Amino acid sequence: FGSEITYFNEIESTQTVAHELSHKGVKEGHVVIANEQTAGKGRLGRKWYSKSGTSVSMSIILRPELPPQQTPQLTLLAAVAVVRAIKSNVGISCDIKWPNDILLNGKKLVGILTEMQADPDVVHSIIIGIGLNVNQDSSEFDDEIKEVATSLRIVKGRVIERAQLIAAILNELETLYDLYLEEGFKPIKSLWEANSISVGTYIYARTMREVIYGFAKGITDDGVLLVEDQQGVTHKIYSADIEIAS
Ligand code: BTN
Repeated sequence: FGSEITYFNEIESTQTVAHELSHKGVKEGHVVIANEQTAGKGRLGRKWYSKSGTSVSMSIILRPELPPQQTPQLTLLAAVAVVRAIKSNVGISCDIKWPNDILLNGKKLVGILTEMQADPDVVHSIIIGIGLNVNQDSSEFDDEIKEVATSLRIVKGRVIERAQLIAAILNELETLYDLYLEEGFKPIKSLWEANSISVGTYIYARTMREVIYGFAKGITDDGVLLVEDQQGVTHKIYSADIEIAS
């Protein structure tokens, strides 16, 4: 991945550009990187802050031959790849919160947004957008996210070289993607579970319709979160915000 890169010093969102390039037929593994995004997109319609020079903002185009319901597996794969790259490159161990938030000391370090272009029975491309807080100091986060966000620099106490980190993430992504294509989701699922803080614990799952409180039992082979409520009913969570109940 990353043998073809489209780079911008400033762009609204790498995710939007990646969608356009994907339509134009760029090859699998094409990466769109921006030094700064002016309208970064987050999950569930939220915005994503990424100011000049301090974060990694990139979108990777994949073209797996998959039915659409399997794409959540790639969302989880991306989170594992980023956690492994941070560990090998910076020496820090992070936690994954379902589906793919990466937390450090309980605060958000990385956000991942997976979007697909698909017909009902076949996926044309999957765009994986990764936003990683690298060199912000705590005063640089906007008031809205100050309490809940962190960066590698805050934890390491030094500036981190972004280019090497990007290369490490792309390498891990490619390695795990190849493993996935060869052996399926099983090995990825094990790696995800080993790095996750959101299974084997009580959680609140805020879906579009309701809040479910219960014990997170695990994930299915499609990457769906299973939560058993206090009546013993198991819910399948496809999309939600998760809060670990303390
Ligand atoms: C989230 O946690 O809500 C997901 C955030 C994803 C942010 C990344 S930054 C690169 C890519 N371009 C975007 O506009 N969003 C994603």
